[in-house]
Amino acid sequence: MWSESDPARVLARLERSGAAEVLLPAATVRALPAQPAAPMTDLPALRRIRYHGEPLADVEADAVRRAFDVELVHVPSGVTDVDGVRSAAAGAAERELAGIDLDAAVVAVYRFGYAALLSMLNAFVHRGLFTGQGDAHTPAEIAAATEVAPAHRGLLGRWLDVLTGQGLLHGDGGALRAVPEPGEYSDDALRRAWTEAERGWLATAGAARTVEYARRNAERLPDLLSGRCGAVPLLFPEGRTGLAAALYRENLTGRYQHAAVAGLTAALAARWQRPLRVLEVGAGTGATTERVVPALAGVGVTVDYLYTDVSASFLDEAREWLSRYPWVRFGRYDIDAGPGEQGYQPASFDVVLGGGVLNAARDTDASVRWLTELLCPGGWLVLTEPTAEEFWILTSQAFLMAEADDDRAATGATFLTLPQWNRVLDAAGLHRVVGLPPDDHPLAELGHRVFAAVRPEQPSKGA
Ligand SMILES: C[S@@+](CC[C@H](N)C(=O)[O-])C[C@H]1O[C@@H](n2cnc3c(N)ncnc32)[C@H](O)[C@@H]1O
Repeated sequence: MWSESDPARVLARLERSGAAEVLLPAATVRALPAQPAAPMTDLPALRRIRYHGEPLADVEADAVRRAFDVELVHVPSGVTDVDGVRSAAAGAAERELAGIDLDAAVVAVYRFGYAALLSMLNAFVHRGLFTGQGDAHTPAEIAAATEVAPAHRGLLGRWLDVLTGQGLLHGDGGALRAVPEPGEYSDDALRRAWTEAERGWLATAGAARTVEYARRNAERLPDLLSGRCGAVPLLFPEGRTGLAAALYRENLTGRYQHAAVAGLTAALAARWQRPLRVLEVGAGTGATTERVVPALAGVGVTVDYLYTDVSASFLDEAREWLSRYPWVRFGRYDIDAGPGEQGYQPASFDVVLGGGVLNAARDTDASVRWLTELLCPGGWLVLTEPTAEEFWILTSQAFLMAEADDDRAATGATFLTLPQWNRVLDAAGLHRVVGLPPDDHPLAELGHRVFAAVRPEQPSKGA
């Protein structure tokens, strides 16, 4: 998603990027055919220009189609200043991370992930596998030796795929061999890898509870795989939510996302022509809420905010810490069920927020379709999600996740990829208007995304 709106620069950038699709302000699109460079600009890949703002007149739209041989799609929105909303979101996110060395933070994330990968190999060693160089084992032998619990068979398969994809296992006629020498994933090597990961995380994120949590899980992997140790007490020791709350708050990509969603929602509220009705799903420990609600309070417009989760215990905690905002209500919403059967009216919200919850959906397409039904025409769906595999999650929280029945089923992946997400949003009939961080951002390669998509005023033809 681009922030560029100068027509000449847009043409140059389109040519350079070879993009197939672009979203632009109406004024930019209107000006494109008359650009001196337009006849010389070679855009063979460009299929579709989507635009927002005042719809183009027929004659203007025809000129664009003729000049660039593209499909032209108008993105309607209750808020026409989509650029303003996007910049507010991006600006808030940048301010949140000002002064932090993001390149070092990215390196720290990779080190952390690598420690998790080595821990998978180390767990196999504790079950007598891959102890000598050249040892080869089939997936069935690995499943048998680890005594993997039926609920974690899919996860074990995913480990093997990921280890192979990352070059740490090598497939050899049905059997797998470890590529590093056993000394590189011994107990001692692991201790060093985790200590290094903690150091990097502390230096960039300022706290390392995430790495400590992941390390504790990594030390229990053989028992987690077999089901002798449960993953719940490791995330909620003595039933307390403090550790989970810390995990959702301390990492830099999380902070970027929470600030972006707060900036975006406040910008929407300021532009909305009537009281804003917000539904938050999977609000949990409130990592997103605690940024969004004060930002909305600061705008000084009337807001009705419904804080929901599938788990009632989170709601009880939130009632206390949100008590000073009388316009925040609380309720239960299950993303795996239709809104009607849960007592929700169609088109009854202007904004639906989900911070890191949609990956828990059994079927993301169905969940997003249901959330879209809850939006009024012109309403906004705002989500934050990882779009790439997180190796440390594969050795910790993945033990808590059920297998999905959507695009992830084929690979066993924990998260939908960015193209899969785009497809889900498009299939729900939504118009994608914000995607952060931008492609050239240092954090972009980590794959954590903020998405915003608008329910059209009129369903598009064929949708
Ligand atoms: C990883 S946390 C997301 C972070 C959360 N926004 C926070 O700040 O704590 C996932 C949240 O989704 C909730 N959840 C899991 N399955 C759900 C479902 N089917 N419907 C609604 N919420 C669900 C969990 O209870 C948890 O609070």
